[in-house]
Formats: sequence, C-alpha cells, structure tokens
Amino acid sequence: MPKTRLRLAGALAAALVAAGLATGPAAQAQEHRPTLADLAQRHGRYFGSATDNPELTDSAYTKILGSEFDMITPGNGMKWYATEPRQGVFDWTDGDRIVNLARRHHQRVRAHTLVWHSQLPDWLSSKEWTAGELRAVLKKHITTEVRHYRGKVYSWDVVNEAFNEDGSYRETIWYKTLGPGYIADALRWAHQADPHARLYLNDYNIEAVGPKSDAYHRLAEELKARGVPLDGIGLQAHLALQYGYPATLEDNLRRFSRLGLDTALTEVDVRMQLPATDEKLAEQAAWYADLTEACLAVRRCVGVTIWDYTDKYSWIPAFFPGEGAALPWDERLTPKPAYSALLEALRQRTVT
Ligand code: XIL
Repeated sequence: MPKTRLRLAGALAAALVAAGLATGPAAQAQEHRPTLADLAQRHGRYFGSATDNPELTDSAYTKILGSEFDMITPGNGMKWYATEPRQGVFDWTDGDRIVNLARRHHQRVRAHTLVWHSQLPDWLSSKEWTAGELRAVLKKHITTEVRHYRGKVYSWDVVNEAFNEDGSYRETIWYKTLGPGYIADALRWAHQADPHARLYLNDYNIEAVGPKSDAYHRLAEELKARGVPLDGIGLQAHLALQYGYPATLEDNLRRFSRLGLDTALTEVDVRMQLPATDEKLAEQAAWYADLTEACLAVRRCVGVTIWDYTDKYSWIPAFFPGEGAALPWDERLTPKPAYSALLEALRQRTVT
C-alpha cells in the first residue's frame, strides 16, 4: 500500500478510538495508546504545543494539552507587551500560569520570545530612543525576564524574526537603533541570566534552503566563531498547502547541525484555503508526517512544536482571512488525519 494510503487507514482507526467510538478490547487499548510525546521520546525528541492563557479555562482542551505533549510554548504570555506593560514594571501572571500548568503535567517549556519587532508595549514602540537608552532598556528586559524564569524553562527564543525574505536584516526598532550587534548582545545577556537555558534564533520561511535561511546560516557561523552563546535555530514552519512543501527541509536542518547547533520546528501549522476538503486534509497529514520525519532524520533536530494543537484556538483564521484548518485536531477537538499521520511517522522511524 502506498505510504499516504496507509496513513489514511491508520487515520480513520485512530480517529474512531480518539472519538470514543471503539468499544471492547479497542477501548481498553485506548487507555494505553502512546501519545505524540511518548513516541517522540523513543527518538530522544519532544513533541510540543503552544498554548495561550484565555483557553486554559476550557477543560476538554487542557486535558489533551496536558496528556499528549511534553513541551509547551506560551503563545503570547511571555512577549514584551505582556511581561513589561509599563517601563520597569514587570508582570509574570500569564507566563507563570503556563509554566505552572506545564510543571503539573511534567512538561518542559520553550520560552517565547525576548526580542521581536511585534507585540511591543506602546511605551517602547512609540518613543524615539537613543542607542544608549534602548540598549539599557533591552538589557534590563532580557535580564529581568530570563532571571525570573531561570531553571524553569528549557530554552528561549532570544531573537525572533530578525531577517527579511531576501536575507537582509529586518529594519526593526532594534536594528535601526542598535545595528546588527543587538543579536549577539541579546544572546550574551540571556546567557548571563540563565546559563542553562538553550538559546535560539527563531524565524518563519526558513524551512527550505534559500536566501533567508542562508542569512541565518551565515550569522550562526559567525556568532559561533566569535564564541557568542547560540545553541539553536528555530524554524517556525508556518506552512501553507498553496505554497508547496519545503522539500529541502531535511538538508537545511542538516547544515545547521553541521555548525554544531540544535534545530527545532517551533511553531508548526499547515494552513489551507477554506473550505477544507478530504483531499486537502490528506495532503496536510502527509506534510505533518514529512516534516516530523525530516526532524527525526537529523540528529540535532531536538523536537517539533505545533502552534497550538486545535483549530479551535489557531491564530490562522484571524491573520490569514479565508485560510485555516491548520492543526491536527479540529474545532471540536477531534483528531484529524494529520494526527494519525504524526503517530505513524513517530512510530516508524528508528533512532538516528
Ligand atoms: C501569534 C499568536 O499566536 C497570536 O495569538 C498573536 O495575536 C500574534 O502572534 N510567529 C511568532 C508567534 O513567532 O509569536 C506568533 O504568535 C505567530 C507568528
């Protein structure tokens, strides 16, 4: 049977079990059914999900979040607007809630994110800063936040989305005021504040080999050569069926490994133009399996995180009008073909 067909047959069986439609021995098997995290762990990897504070009151949602994954990323709660809403006044409410929830479920946390151009508080983005002032603001923010979460998080996305599509530096408040050196500074300050956290640069559209991922490769090589504390590159992997699968993903992961860096797929979703059809959902399932297999094939790819696990709480419909259905569980929290495809991909490959 072709791989995709097998995946679809498995998809149906798993969906029935997950929907509680199976009885007898199958229902018993349900209790011991390995989760995505269980299977990822057999490869020395994790399987994670983002989550966000408003949805934590949904107990059907948190039940799956707490059982199926072993790594959690706060979707918003650790961003600048949430953590330093007024200059020098820090608020850990949202981030702490997610860290505590993760701890109760024995999950680790990928912390996200310290330096970004988006979701900044007004006091920061609406002012003209001198380089000296802004550098001090940045250092204080990084130092305070990373210290607060010291020992509680596995990794930090230290800088998020630093490059344009053509590989030039994005003209952010940080780049324009401080120059490209802000990246090395941010990594050093984060490392001082928590020497054990794995420090990442993270971006979208860097899954394939191309000008933007080349820029990261060059920068990473240079930072490593200068002894700057960089541990990994996060590939967000916000994919869309209409743009095609990034066929060079595995090669790309491998070239970062060769620099002595970890890689991770950090914000995976596979969106499509709505309405979703069986055909599109099958293609989506194959993409989820393929990107997981690419990670498993490269030794230093440490894990996969999906950008929340259910279409019920996906950011896609609000940001890409007319698109959606991007995650492995649907809006009713029922597993889609992508979920079974993930299980199968994680079951099949041997440890590399
Ligand atoms: C998104 C969140 O999911 C939304 O809730 C928020 O309104 C906007 O940001 N790349 C990132 C994430 O690094 O932080 C973004 O998260 C999605 C794109």
